[in-house]
Amino acid sequence: MQKTCLITGASRGIGYETAKGLGHQGHKVYITARNSQKGQEAAQKLSQEGIQARFIELDITDPQSIVRARTQLAQHEEKLDVLINNAGIMIDSIFTPDKVSFEDFSSTLSTNTTGPYFLIQEFMPLLAKSADARVINMSSDLGAMTQASDPQSRFDAVLAPGYRISKAALNMVTLIYAKHFRDTDISICSCSPGWCQTSLDPHIDSSKAPNTAVDGAQTPIWLASEANKADINGQFFYKKSTINW
Ligand SMILES: NC(=O)c1ccc[n+]([C@@H]2O[C@H](COP(=O)([O-])OP(=O)(O)OC[C@H]3O[C@@H](n4cnc5c(N)ncnc54)[C@H](OP(=O)(O)O)[C@@H]3O)[C@@H](O)[C@H]2O)c1
Repeated sequence: MQKTCLITGASRGIGYETAKGLGHQGHKVYITARNSQKGQEAAQKLSQEGIQARFIELDITDPQSIVRARTQLAQHEEKLDVLINNAGIMIDSIFTPDKVSFEDFSSTLSTNTTGPYFLIQEFMPLLAKSADARVINMSSDLGAMTQASDPQSRFDAVLAPGYRISKAALNMVTLIYAKHFRDTDISICSCSPGWCQTSLDPHIDSSKAPNTAVDGAQTPIWLASEANKADINGQFFYKKSTINW
């Protein structure tokens, strides 16, 4: 069955590859980004591959932009089956906690946590019209409390205070909505794509990352289209398996 999917931050990177993968499975994809020229170009590229793709401009840090995006989607669709909160920023990876600026910390939380929370709230009525709705929050291993509290963790030396806090908080967004959705047809989960070769972090050369954006897209694609809906609500995934929060 064809699903209607909306993927935030899909003008490039993991979001773009997720849209492409779902599109090639025959699903309809709405891709969003702040930069409308880049977003339009990405949608055009997907369309040229035979994918049903449209662009919707969205800045997830702007509540009015969130309402406009929902209004625009509702002009074309009666329901939304898949919402992927993929848009995110990482701007403080080289800073120790004492050096992170108020501005960087706030914009990281606003983009990675507050935006996804209110996007879900705004799209809930459209998701409720689907018999099999899924919300996927693109989190990170760096947001896992289990990793952050383990001095032996391979992420122990990673700084990025605002980013790590924002992804830990995004995981709580998942759990809070999972409780709210418990007796509904909506499921919500978090996933981590692993370290991927994308332009997420302006301070670090990601060409050394072990995964491509295509690799990183595999778990969200699977969660959106193939995973058993009943098994994913309130869970955290990496490489199609559950991991500890
Ligand atoms: N790459 C990794 O190693 C890695 C690891 C773990 C988790 N993740 C997560 O995976 C997700 C995708 O990351 P990526 O590596 O693909 O990053 P990316 O290549 O930098 O792509 C990020 C996307 O988010 C959009 N975006 C940024 N701020 C936005 C805002 N305020 N409103 C709407 N869209 C916004 C960007 O488009 P515009 O700038 O045009 O808006 C872009 O399309 C992020 O949530 C990231 O935290 C990535």
